[in-house]
Amino acid sequence: MNDELAEQLLCLRELVLAAGDMLLDSMGRIVHIEAKAATEFVTDVDKRVEDLVLEGLARTFPADAVLAEESGAHPGGGGSGGRTWYIDPLDGTTNFAHGYPIFAVSAGCAGPEGLVLGAVYLPYLDELYLAFRGGGARLERPRHGVAAPLARRTPVELESALLATGFPYVRDAAVDRTLSAVGAFLRAPCHGIRRGGSAAADLVHVAAGRLDGYFELRLRPWDTAGGTLVAREAGVIVTDLAGVEVAVPSPGVVAAAPGLHGRMLKMLAETAGREPV
Ligand code: IPD
Ligand code: CA
Ligand code: CA
Repeated sequence: MNDELAEQLLCLRELVLAAGDMLLDSMGRIVHIEAKAATEFVTDVDKRVEDLVLEGLARTFPADAVLAEESGAHPGGGGSGGRTWYIDPLDGTTNFAHGYPIFAVSAGCAGPEGLVLGAVYLPYLDELYLAFRGGGARLERPRHGVAAPLARRTPVELESALLATGFPYVRDAAVDRTLSAVGAFLRAPCHGIRRGGSAAADLVHVAAGRLDGYFELRLRPWDTAGGTLVAREAGVIVTDLAGVEVAVPSPGVVAAAPGLHGRMLKMLAETAGREPV
């Protein structure tokens, strides 16, 4: 099984590299921007990259179903154990549209046992994160010609942690809940809180030890699937807001190094006025 997944990860690697290259080539060359909502956008680049990924998945994994951000659900041909791919062709569209260099291609595949394959590629940063279930996680820097396994995360105290979060597109009560949690973490005090603008990047950066903890209240499965497997394979605890290690967390996600995760969960519950779990 591991050999099979390792081989499938190589196919996924080629696919996300091609998708990331398309993103890099398209930077600064958006032809069309459409508003999905007052503060949420989709560009022609999101759609072109999604088409490329969908074609690749249909060719390589025809049995699998796909849920992709821009085009929705695509039933698979069946037969590969009921697996589903979660695809975000461009995670960080707002960044991309402004030329802010944190954006990613994210792909995760889940079967009945949970996530089995994950890839997140940040082409501008030259960071490709890959993982298969039970195989650990690794970081490649293709243009630098380096690749290495990610070390497993060790315990971190909140007082020495660098955290990240995300702000919801819909500016409703979730904004206030996010801000009151940010206030509580800043006063802990932690070392700082970042808002990078790509959930997939936040998750893999916790995996790589660049961040120690991350939470966000309103995400979709395609934002979290790829990064969740990479993070878990690097020893990061990734749950929903109730602390459950669901296969693909959404809408809420809490990802943190051991030791820190429980404390973040408790503070998030307190700031939301809920009983800690
Ligand atoms: C968004 C990014 C952002 C997060 C949003 C997501 P998109 O994805 O991951 O960091 O805060 O909630 O929707 O729209 O750029 O693919
Ligand atoms: Ca996204
Ligand atoms: Ca997207």
